[in-house]
Amino acid sequence: EQARQIQQTLAEFRLSKNQLLEVKKRMRVEIERGLKKDTHKDAAVKMLPTFVRSTPDGTENGDFLALDLGGTNFRVLLVKIRSGKRRSVEMHNKIYAIPIEVMQGTGEELFDHIVHCISDFLDYMGMKSARLPLGFTFSFPCHQTSLDAGILVTWTKGFKATDCEGEDVVELLREAIKRKEEFELDVVAIVNDTVGTMMTCAYEEPTCEVGLIAGTGSNACYMEEMKNIEIVPGNEGRMCVNMEWGAFGDNGCLDDIRTTYDQAVDENSLNEGKQRYEKMCSGMYLGEIVRQILIDLTKRGFLFRGQISETLKTRGIFETKFLSQIESDRLALLQVRAILQQLGLDSTCDDSIIVKEVCGTVSRRAAQICGAGMAAVVDKIRENRGLDHLDITVGVDGTLYKLHPHFSPIFQQTVKELAPKCDVNFLLSEDGSGKGAALITAVGCRQRELDA
Ligand code: BG6
Ligand code: GLC
Repeated sequence: EQARQIQQTLAEFRLSKNQLLEVKKRMRVEIERGLKKDTHKDAAVKMLPTFVRSTPDGTENGDFLALDLGGTNFRVLLVKIRSGKRRSVEMHNKIYAIPIEVMQGTGEELFDHIVHCISDFLDYMGMKSARLPLGFTFSFPCHQTSLDAGILVTWTKGFKATDCEGEDVVELLREAIKRKEEFELDVVAIVNDTVGTMMTCAYEEPTCEVGLIAGTGSNACYMEEMKNIEIVPGNEGRMCVNMEWGAFGDNGCLDDIRTTYDQAVDENSLNEGKQRYEKMCSGMYLGEIVRQILIDLTKRGFLFRGQISETLKTRGIFETKFLSQIESDRLALLQVRAILQQLGLDSTCDDSIIVKEVCGTVSRRAAQICGAGMAAVVDKIRENRGLDHLDITVGVDGTLYKLHPHFSPIFQQTVKELAPKCDVNFLLSEDGSGKGAALITAVGCRQRELDA
């Protein structure tokens, strides 16, 4: 009977193929709403133009600084790109911490901290006096009117610094550089991490025209036809669109598949009501869904001898790396218990079996709905090009995709099933999005010279 009730609880997370096809269909509807002049203002999926009009062609050249803010790590990078027959990219980078107080303090503190890290990096590289062009990977939704202007729509994930929403983030960075009075830099481009990832991968593989992040957050970008992006003038060629698909469902269109546990995770978050799809399928929230289910099962007496420990009440205990370990097939149940022990959860053997099944169910749904979203994207591209069959590459990054043992295979299988007319090749980004940001900066610099 207990087993039956547990299965009943988990059944809500097990989506049928029809339900997944429905998710794909709704994503397609939201994509259209985001692209159309009449509907884009209230669209949940914002489909933000990026002013990146092509993928790299190998002529990019020069030395660039890049920042990479918004994922697990904050990085400052120096990227040296050489064009021509023996084209090459050389990278140096340093990782810096961003303390929670800074993520959630004032905007000025956040940007001062960023500039402090740049200063440290320039010292470290011995290049304080160089005035380099800079590409800023900023993994949040920005309204762009050009390559080097981006108004922050809203913070997502774990960030909540004051006085930034509604502001041009490039200006905030320039002002912080001025305040420091130590060095000059040209901020040439602001780049979403999906776009940086697509460009990084496209440098190696020209068929890469889609970017995907399955990490702390979840998002995708792709090359859309200019004529379909109604809010940008011009009908020729293509432009990369940052979908901000994490906000899919914010208008209630996924309510029928959201569970009470998803609602609890949302209520406990920094941005209630927002990023509902992201909260069902990205690394920052999967562990929270698991925790909510475990709390419920414990309350009902099915787990941990009915005792809700302080640990279980702690937000964020199940990080992606722990979920990945718990679901590893090579791991014996005894080791699952050891991990739970490490987290401060005393479990019996039966407990560990249940915990493992809960994790597996939650991550499977995440991979499947993420796959349904991607199926909508590649089918849209196929239709754009009037093709019966599309071959395309998706550049991918993110800890969930890279570390989790089951996410990527289930995700890929789902895309295959839901978009049978597309052959999708998934290419892991090894170099992060900083390289892509530098490539975009190179193009931006060339354009500036032409305009001057
Ligand atoms: C990194 C990219 O490799 O992946 C970042 O360089 C991106 O730009 C990140 O934000 C996403 O993964 P995660 O798991 O760190 O959020
Ligand atoms: C969040 C951000 C988005 C980013 C994604 C992955 O969804 O809003 O801009 O691409 O996380 O980091």
